[in-house]
Amino acid sequence: MCGIVGYLGSQSAAPILIKGLHQLEYRGYDSAGIALNCESESSFQLFKAKGKVSNLESIIPDEVKMRDNMPVAGIGHTRWATHGEPSTANAHPHLSMSGEVVLVHNGIIENYKELKDQLIDRGYTFQSQTDTEVLCNLVDLYYQQNGKNLRLAVVQALNKAIGAYAIAVMEQKDNQHIVCARKASPLVIGISEGNDEFFIGSDATPMVEYTHKVIYLDDEQVADVRLGHEVEIVNLDQSLAEFDVKEVDLDITALTKGGFPHFMIKEIFDQPHCLENCMRGRVVRLDDGTYDIKLSALHNFKAKLIRARHVIIVACGTSWHAGLIGKQLIEEMCRIRVEVEYASEFRYRNPVIEKDDVVIAISQSGETADTLAAIQLAKEKGALVFGIVNGVGSSIARAADTGIYIHVGPEIGVASTKAFTGQVTVLTMLALALGHALGTISEEYFQQTCHELTQIPLKMEKVLQQNDAICLLSTPFTFARNFLYLGRGYNYPVALEGALKLKEISYIHAEGYPAAEMKHGPIALVDAEMPIVFLATHHELYQKIISNMQEVQSRKGRIIAVVTEGDQEISKIAQATIEIPATLNALVPLLSVLPMQMLAYHVAVKKGLNVDMPRNLAKSVTVE
Ligand code: G6P
Repeated sequence: MCGIVGYLGSQSAAPILIKGLHQLEYRGYDSAGIALNCESESSFQLFKAKGKVSNLESIIPDEVKMRDNMPVAGIGHTRWATHGEPSTANAHPHLSMSGEVVLVHNGIIENYKELKDQLIDRGYTFQSQTDTEVLCNLVDLYYQQNGKNLRLAVVQALNKAIGAYAIAVMEQKDNQHIVCARKASPLVIGISEGNDEFFIGSDATPMVEYTHKVIYLDDEQVADVRLGHEVEIVNLDQSLAEFDVKEVDLDITALTKGGFPHFMIKEIFDQPHCLENCMRGRVVRLDDGTYDIKLSALHNFKAKLIRARHVIIVACGTSWHAGLIGKQLIEEMCRIRVEVEYASEFRYRNPVIEKDDVVIAISQSGETADTLAAIQLAKEKGALVFGIVNGVGSSIARAADTGIYIHVGPEIGVASTKAFTGQVTVLTMLALALGHALGTISEEYFQQTCHELTQIPLKMEKVLQQNDAICLLSTPFTFARNFLYLGRGYNYPVALEGALKLKEISYIHAEGYPAAEMKHGPIALVDAEMPIVFLATHHELYQKIISNMQEVQSRKGRIIAVVTEGDQEISKIAQATIEIPATLNALVPLLSVLPMQMLAYHVAVKKGLNVDMPRNLAKSVTVE
């Protein structure tokens, strides 16, 4: 949800923090702030602004930005509001009443009201409506009581706090010291090669420019980061914790727009290349020209996966839509029963999970709080947890028993695009490999599908060539107030995803439905004002979809149809058609989703909206 950065070293801290906040802005963008602790100042320097990080940047004086060559500690935050409206007062960092402690926080302190009352009884007053200021003053209370030991004060405060947090805290008396901690919200510490600079971030992106040596904090750990010292980490019972320093491998070019006007369209166009990365070394062509699928996760847990009689997929948002496609793939190719659950529902409804079940958790970020909680529940019940994750080293990747990274690189646009096709590709490889091992698909089917999967990146390029045409056809639809998306079989989840994309970035109400369900309700909405997107590629239900289209046509609905290349029939009925190359039915979503992404993008751009950072949304939802 929110993004946290921190810096400790002798470079000018403000520009490093600001740049880091820009890179984390996808996590939240309703207000931002930084706090600096410099030798030359007698108190913290605090800068906060409502809105985007660029607003904050504009209020920081040049002399602060250019200060160099003296040890400085700094923390910063970009916020996605939970408690209290987006405002400067509610923006982080929050200063304690004494002015001696300053803190940034990502997460929710659930018992903040109770803690606030206790602090008020002790004479504390508050400037904001946030739970974070309560946590800051709680740290301050212990800090004053325990002889100004910041690490101990943080441990004491966190022992009283219920909820989720990633925090970074500074003390005024020591400008070479930051304490940070996490529980259910991610936090990474970067260490420079010379051990003379430290970086803190909600993920590793703000630090890869400076270092690749990182520590991923674990839940309920508190790290003492001090210039001139090794990082020390303790648990909440104050015992010393062991930790590893890891090498992070992030491609810095993935963090720039590479000549595109927005991250979203860059990421849409990245997809052919991303899928090649996702399949590299996994879908392999052998010397005799046949294909094999090599997935180490499958190899290591083969017996358990083969034994599974029941698979439960848990996910949220776009990842849940990928899960719906995964269900069809696994059921078709492996003949194993699959349920797809919203992680948020699954975790609270005492689901039936047997020891031999496999729970597949799908997540782009690897940090979604509900998905993490669903994993914990599945593990308690003894199921094997299989993660399909993009965020390398993320909480879900670490919590899962095994899994497959989708390897599509950092996704910055808040509306997920390349992660979706990466997830569907991994699910396809998994279903194919498992079906092959189980003998539930023929060798011929396996070979043909593997071959066709390797052709998908090329075919995606052909769909992407229609970007200008889709841009043009989107114009009349920018004024629509509602959209309907209809598809059947593998295209039904694509219809849901198309509707979600449009809602997320253009703020137009849209619904996805199985096409045949239209007559059970949505048809009542159809009139000359209503655009209806049909996913009408060739498959056994093609004629039935055409009948659905005719029902819409006779009610004057405006039809945009995604059809298979060379289709002659649908262009006679639809106002606009978008062609995709022919492929196997099970692989159609990998192509048919591209027009959905491009259509949503162009409608939103034409409406003048911020497609990369749509209102009220966050890329990574680390609160429930
Ligand atoms: C947020 C994002 C969505 C994403 C969902 C699940 O709502 O805005 O794009 O699909 O979270 O996130 P995950 O990282 O678990 O895939």
